[in-house]
Amino acid sequence: MSCSFSPSLIFLLILFATINHHHTAALPLSTNSRWIVDDGKGGERVKLSCVNWVSHLDVVVAEGLSKQPVDVISKKILKMGFNCVRLTYPIFLFTNNTLGSITVRQSLKKLGLIESIAGFQANNPSILDLPLIKAFQEVVASLDRNNVMIILDNHIGKPGWCCSDFDGNGFFGDQYFDPDLWLKGLTKVATLFNNSTNVVGMSLRNELRGPKQNVSVWYRYMQKGAEVVHAANPNALVILSGLSYDKDLSFIQAQPVNLTFSNKLVFEVHWYGFSNGEDWKTGNPNQVCGRVVDDIMKRSGFLLDKGYPLFVSEWGVDQRGTNENDNRYLNCFIAWAADHDLDWALWTLVGSYYFREGVVGMEEFYGVLDYDWCEARNSSFLQKISAIQSPFQGPGLSKSRPHKLIFHPATGLCVQRTSFFKPLTLGPCSEAERWDYTPKKTLTIKGTYYCLQADGVGKKSKLGIICTDTSSQWEPISASKLHLSSKINNGTSVCMDVDSENTIVTNTCKCLANDNMCDPASQWFKIINSTRLGAAVSHSPIDYILETIGVGMLG
Ligand SMILES: *[C@@H]1O[C@H](CO)[C@@H](O)[C@H](O)[C@H]1NC(C)=O
Ligand SMILES: *[C@@H]1O[C@H](CO)[C@@H](O)[C@H](O)[C@H]1NC(C)=O
Ligand SMILES: *[C@@H]1O[C@H](CO)[C@@H](O)[C@H](O)[C@H]1NC(C)=O
Ligand SMILES: *[C@@H]1O[C@H](CO)[C@@H](O)[C@H](O)[C@H]1NC(C)=O
Ligand SMILES: *[C@@H]1O[C@H](CO)[C@@H](O)[C@H](O)[C@H]1NC(C)=O
Ligand SMILES: *[C@@H]1O[C@H](CO)[C@@H](O)[C@H](O)[C@H]1NC(C)=O
Repeated sequence: MSCSFSPSLIFLLILFATINHHHTAALPLSTNSRWIVDDGKGGERVKLSCVNWVSHLDVVVAEGLSKQPVDVISKKILKMGFNCVRLTYPIFLFTNNTLGSITVRQSLKKLGLIESIAGFQANNPSILDLPLIKAFQEVVASLDRNNVMIILDNHIGKPGWCCSDFDGNGFFGDQYFDPDLWLKGLTKVATLFNNSTNVVGMSLRNELRGPKQNVSVWYRYMQKGAEVVHAANPNALVILSGLSYDKDLSFIQAQPVNLTFSNKLVFEVHWYGFSNGEDWKTGNPNQVCGRVVDDIMKRSGFLLDKGYPLFVSEWGVDQRGTNENDNRYLNCFIAWAADHDLDWALWTLVGSYYFREGVVGMEEFYGVLDYDWCEARNSSFLQKISAIQSPFQGPGLSKSRPHKLIFHPATGLCVQRTSFFKPLTLGPCSEAERWDYTPKKTLTIKGTYYCLQADGVGKKSKLGIICTDTSSQWEPISASKLHLSSKINNGTSVCMDVDSENTIVTNTCKCLANDNMCDPASQWFKIINSTRLGAAVSHSPIDYILETIGVGMLG
């Protein structure tokens, strides 16, 4: 199936082509404290903005190859602003020779997927009659050719949808999870891809879980797994998942991982809206966000302070925007990811599966591509995550002096001043205003005396030069710490907000607590650290004159 002409996709591609200047990292990657860095002089930060490409289900072939040619998919990944794929596989693909040598055609046929065979014939005829292992290598080769980095993720033992407590794939010693076989499989994968430069990392095992999970057994085998991977492929980052579906790495607090090598270890964590059931929908989003982020920091986020990179290797939402639980979680997630400038992998690339959980051609509403793998499913979702696709800070990126950005997670935009005469609005973070957040809690435009001021309920925020009264002081309040509040002259608290024209205003603070019917997202802002070199903001000459006079009068 070829994609029909679509003005919106073309627009989107042009948009992303202009805002993402692709920069190819010098590989291999290694770690420098909590940052992943490249092999160039000085080790510049590389932020993993990955998308999960599923290849571990019953067919054991990367999804979508009956819909689009493999190189077309690789190129779409880059055009949507991702620089990397977390490619999943079942360990049996590499430990069971019978399985590894079945051809793609045979594997599809066995499941009665006649339509997929026809689609494959049309889109990827050269892969259709390859053995499953070779087909997997072809996908890696395509990503490699197109400059997409790859993290190979051992997702499961026996091919199929993952995960439950009792699926036999959860923990060392389960029916389909023989630790020795797993070590053999990892060795084979690491060896096979040792010379594929773009395979930058290996995720040793997805979502450990179930009744057998055990901390001391975790150390025994994860350390062994890390060593065998490193021995076969010393270039790869070694990525370790925690317990309880990769939600818990708290045990690392008490006992660090003991390895013979250094600067290659990364931890991974998963966080979805449904990780907390329906809490987002039934609770007050501020309170839920505050509580859940606090919990995540205790279980995994603390690793950043211990000097390890933390890769959020699965997160995502129903992109139709109809799942309120997901929508509320997403705003909190994006604020957290921007605040800590995390590496991550979105679930998922997949628009539809060949066959999942007994269903032929199942649509994936968490997928960034649509059913036919043609277009982005939801361009506003991509717009929203585009700010976190590039690094805000990290080694080698300090081309601009440290500053703050005022980030609005609900839109993925930042507070921007387009001209001295125009009100502050939201705009792309790459063109946003750089601020200082002073000990006196004023937000001042870097290099000027202008501070942000509240003017009243429902009024546009303004810039002033007398920055001493309470209307110039901004404080993160509410359980989520995502409301930026100030006091107007009569002492009334107001919160930063955005109106229907994208203008920055202040309003009565909303949805602070208890109310679960109310969504605070328009009032959620996060002051984040950045050394990102923005696009030069072009102010008119008169702006510069006014600023110079302003500075001159005070200085
Ligand atoms: C190996 O794979 C084949 C083909 O899927 C399967 O029939 C067989 O049961 C597998 N063997 C083991 C030991 O899992
Ligand atoms: C990878 O390349 C090295 C030399 O650079 C070679 O010795 C090794 O055999 C290659 N490995 C594989 C699996 O091709
Ligand atoms: C974890 O496994 C170790 C070693 O096999 C065993 O001694 C210990 O009792 C187990 N702990 C739990 C909580 O099951
Ligand atoms: C893996 O490749 C590196 C070069 O990139 C080479 O030095 C090393 O010997 C290779 N390891 C194996 C086991 O082939
Ligand atoms: C780390 O492992 C090495 C052997 O690989 C061992 O000699 C050493 O005692 C271990 N250190 C700790 C702190 O467990
Ligand atoms: C995209 O997502 C937004 C918000 O999440 C939603 O309002 C919109 O309907 C979605 N569009 C499509 C085409 O699903």
